[in-house]
Amino acid sequence: MKAIALDTYGSPDDLRLVELPEPKVAPGEVLVRVKAAGVNPVDWKLGAGMLDAVMETRFPLISGWDVAGVVERVGFDATEFAVGDEVYGYIRKDWAQNGAYAELVSAPVRTLAKKPASLSWEEAAGVPLAGLTAYQSIERLGVDRGDVVLVHAAAGGVGSLGVQIAVARGARVIGTASERNHEFLRSLGAEPVTYGEGLA
Ligand SMILES: NC(=O)c1ccc[n+]([C@@H]2O[C@H](COP(=O)([O-])OP(=O)(O)OC[C@H]3O[C@@H](n4cnc5c(N)ncnc54)[C@H](OP(=O)(O)O)[C@@H]3O)[C@@H](O)[C@H]2O)c1
Repeated sequence: MKAIALDTYGSPDDLRLVELPEPKVAPGEVLVRVKAAGVNPVDWKLGAGMLDAVMETRFPLISGWDVAGVVERVGFDATEFAVGDEVYGYIRKDWAQNGAYAELVSAPVRTLAKKPASLSWEEAAGVPLAGLTAYQSIERLGVDRGDVVLVHAAAGGVGSLGVQIAVARGARVIGTASERNHEFLRSLGAEPVTYGEGLA
């Protein structure tokens, strides 16, 4: 299969198109034919070696923890999905090697959900990592009607989803962002504030 990989820790300039063996499918996993892969800040941090102390990383390294695609093969004891199912997910495993910047990726079924028909492949691949981060943060804070929530980097991937979830729960949301993103934040229901000096 074709993949975008790094031979050693490096920068995005070191990414190259390579031909690699198809990933093996462990029990409890399915093989997904990738339609779209999400790109997150953690991808370059992983590639630069910034997670080396906490994550076993093997080379060639294929990055990409967000995927949307079609189930191509079902592993032993992976009864939740069938061949042909359209899925999306945050498919990070406990080590890094076979990510979603590839034609095929294996994923534990616990990391996948059926892709809503209302989302394009690209939209679906953009949701999982940022969406789960935002959702879990808002959930753990117990954000509720009448609360005031400050979301930093509110126009970014995590922030813009966090704003929408907090607004949907009835909170008043203040979001920090560059001036050029203020209209966008207003459209999501937040009150924009420029970050930096004078923020408080
Ligand atoms: N620990 C976790 O589980 C976890 C999970 C997901 C993400 N993250 C991390 O969270 C960060 C955001 O991720 P993302 O996917 O949302 O990134 P992103 O889409 O690239 O968004 C980054 C945002 O940061 C804003 N920003 C830059 N400097 C800022 C400042 N001084 N104060 C406030 N906002 C500032 C930018 O806003 P403007 O364009 O408006 O300037 C931009 O929208 C990254 O560092 C990522 O690695 C951590």
